[in-house]
Amino acid sequence: MAECRICGGAVDEFFDFGRQPVSDSFVTPETAGSEFYFRLAAGICTSCTMVQLMEEVPREQMFHEDYPYRSNGSAVMHRHFEDYANRLLATELSGADPFIVEIGSNDGTMLKTIQKADVRHLGVDPSAQVADFARADGVRVRTAFFEDSTAREIAAADGAADVIFSANTTSHIPYMDSIFRGVDALLAADGVLVLEDRYLGSIMEQRAFDQIYDEHFYLFSVSSVQKMAEIFGFELVDVEPLTVHGGSMRYSIARPGKRTPSAAVTEFVDRERTQGLASPETYKQFSAGVLKSCKELTDLLKDLHAQGRTVVGYGATAKSATVINYCGIGPELLPYICDSTLAKQGRLTPGMHIPVRPSEAFSEPYPEYALLFAWNHAEEIMAKEQGFRDAGGKWILYVPEVHLA
Ligand code: SAM
Ligand code: TMP
Ligand code: ZN
Repeated sequence: MAECRICGGAVDEFFDFGRQPVSDSFVTPETAGSEFYFRLAAGICTSCTMVQLMEEVPREQMFHEDYPYRSNGSAVMHRHFEDYANRLLATELSGADPFIVEIGSNDGTMLKTIQKADVRHLGVDPSAQVADFARADGVRVRTAFFEDSTAREIAAADGAADVIFSANTTSHIPYMDSIFRGVDALLAADGVLVLEDRYLGSIMEQRAFDQIYDEHFYLFSVSSVQKMAEIFGFELVDVEPLTVHGGSMRYSIARPGKRTPSAAVTEFVDRERTQGLASPETYKQFSAGVLKSCKELTDLLKDLHAQGRTVVGYGATAKSATVINYCGIGPELLPYICDSTLAKQGRLTPGMHIPVRPSEAFSEPYPEYALLFAWNHAEEIMAKEQGFRDAGGKWILYVPEVHLA
């Protein structure tokens, strides 16, 4: 049994996806086969209930010069971060000379709004290429992994931060002890640490098994984040459910006793108990559901192939690596995947080596079926690609179960 990275308790494994490649390693025909592989398996801590991976991928294998993910790839996400930045400017950042640090600032989608308001800010992100996109927009970025030492250096140079914000990033970081020591060194006495991430409750409810991949080391719930904050000397003071990425949660964390915890925290802890988020039975059912979804999806793709139907993929997401490699979907079933990210186009998906083509290739000509790997952006993509349905096309989805839309 593995040891919990948060509390040292025993982690009970509930699903093993076997040998999997690093999810964002989009290779060229020349580098195909060089992907880093690891055993992708998830478990739940029997003490603090944190859901986590059984094996850790070295961080430099995932986050580096060529890391391709761009926050700006979705108009919905762009609006989401702009709205929240404006809310912070009107609240936490409305005092004298405020300062905000973002962990995992990526291409600066969130900090751009802060920069335009002329408020002191610093993004921290180890992935050099995406950090350069942020700099091109005037955002101040430090190309580094946020951890204890980075935080102390920032505090020495810039002073205390009123807000430390991090979206879809802290779940990627196994070393939360170092993160919280860093937050302790950098956060103002009455400052707030705000985390946004995929929500375990939604993942279990929707059987969104593809949310389990290398970068998602943790799948947070309100109960597990509350315990994590406490273990590392902080207090969870508010939570806010978010619709983005198929169901997320925003967690506000402060120094103990500095803010009164909201009723929402207790409500969600109670709700999670009723949902059975810490119960082994929930994970047993989830695991049976994963096998069922994979079988139904591969059966459907094989059937369509046998009938001579045209099928392509849409959205070369990191999470698609789990589906594609675990279900064994290769270019014979899915000749290509369309994606709007420049850095992914012309490359091959990790492991199964399915070519990635620009979004424009989708209509040249439209296929009969499209497997939507970016199901978390379904509304945005289906609206943008209305022409596909108008031409008689059908979307294939596998969350919450395999179905056509
Ligand atoms: N915050 C953006 C969003 O929500 O769209 C980007 C999320 S992206 C999935 C995760 C980002 O975290 C990547 O840009 C990666 O380079 C960065 N990252 C990973 N480990 C980090 C660390 N220790 N400190 C700061 N950034 C990190
Ligand atoms: P994500 O689910 O991790 O945010 O990744 C979404 C992927 O889907 C990313 O590679 C960009 C791609 N995408 C498109 O190709 N077209 C779109 O309209 C959107 C929103 C995303
Ligand atoms: Zn634990």
